Amino acid sequence: VTGRVEIFRSLEALSGRAAALVARTVGEARWARGVARIALSGGRTPRRTYEILGARGELADPAVEIFFCDERCVPPTDERSNYRLVAATIGDAGNVRRIRGEDEPDAAAEAYEALLRERFGAGPPAFDLVLLGLGADGHTASLFPGAPEVAERRRWVVATREAHGGVRRVTLTLPVLDAARTKVLLAAGAAKAPAVADVLAGGASPAARLRGLRMLLDEAAAGRVRAPR
Ligand code: 6PG
Repeated sequence: VTGRVEIFRSLEALSGRAAALVARTVGEARWARGVARIALSGGRTPRRTYEILGARGELADPAVEIFFCDERCVPPTDERSNYRLVAATIGDAGNVRRIRGEDEPDAAAEAYEALLRERFGAGPPAFDLVLLGLGADGHTASLFPGAPEVAERRRWVVATREAHGGVRRVTLTLPVLDAARTKVLLAAGAAKAPAVADVLAGGASPAARLRGLRMLLDEAAAGRVRAPR
């Protein structure tokens, strides 16, 4: 069941709104609890959002901890690395907690779960915000339709059994994503319209299993959906 849906004329407008939402949520969390913990995704869609956040500079603060929803099993210098994307756009002021993509995937997942347990204490870890993307097949983070990782209930972080684009991935699991206080999903482009429709209809895709998602869409991804004005 989705929360709010907002539709934008351009990726630029969507990105401005997403960056403002992240900054506001981080500010509110710091005010309420002294610290903000967010988890970010990779992919093409959030790049501009991250550039705007980097220019604003508010996330370069030890009281803001930046984690990842997922990572490809590549070194942090690889152009497919989500850490590399975030470091190049938002920047890493020593507050970015990366998944070690260069390590053996199952070991990297275990180590990241141990890090989350250390930072959050007893579970489930309540991120202040998770920023998610959406695949045309309905995947979110690295939870792909039909994969065993989607059914995981106990572990917080797992490695995918399958490789995607030649590399396995490490991903937060649905219970962790669902436990976040704010869940924002970005989708742009007509290729995403069927997956967006499935999420809005409460369908069977991994993304559709998350409750209370805030969706920021461009007009092409929204397809025939109309946001209430
Ligand atoms: C990643 C993601 C993944 C992504 C979608 C959409 O690191 O790739 O976490 O779930 O958000 O595949 O990717 P695009 O934004 O590139 O369409």
